[in-house]
Amino acid sequence: MDFTADQLLQYNGTDPSKPIYVAVKGRVFDVTTGKSFYGPGGSYAMFAGKDSSRALAKMSKNDEDISSSLHGLTEKEIGVLDDWEKKFEAKYPVVGRFVSALISGMITMPDASVSAEILFKFFIQDSRMDSKKTSAFPGRNERKKM
Ligand code: HEM
Repeated sequence: MDFTADQLLQYNGTDPSKPIYVAVKGRVFDVTTGKSFYGPGGSYAMFAGKDSSRALAKMSKNDEDISSSLHGLTEKEIGVLDDWEKKFEAKYPVVGRFVSALISGMITMPDASVSAEILFKFFIQDSRMDSKKTSAFPGRNERKKM
């Protein structure tokens, strides 16, 4: 299942009848069993219902970092994010993927201000995660995780 930002926000823990989701690098994890972290009042509640990749990479809880954008992250921060991804994989089920505004924006109106590097990252991620689509990156797709 694909989640837009608005859809993902429905799973931010404020409705106790719904599961809680956090997306990392475009994959949506069901973190309901980590309710004490991500539920209302939890130390990491600000990550719930969002793709919080940037915040995880930067070890930040600041509003402006709660974003799927990897723009300008250092190699070290990308490494931190990859470690978080591994932790989430080991602990939580994947329920879908987050379709960032960046991706939909690029498809509808490509913007020269979006760097080729970021475009590349997102397309790799996209191809890796979609099992039904024939990938332009077959090597990556073989290692797909869902
Ligand atoms: C002094 C600062 C901090 C301390 C002492 C601390 C401590 C902890 C502890 C003890 C846990 C529980 C680990 C476990 O049981 O598996 C945890 C989990 C976590 N920490 Fe921190 N933390 C700090 C700062 C941060 C910051 C700045 C971030 C921002 C990214 C962060 C993100 C997380 C996340 C996302 C989890 C939950 C992981 C999960 O779902 O299992 N922490 N932290």
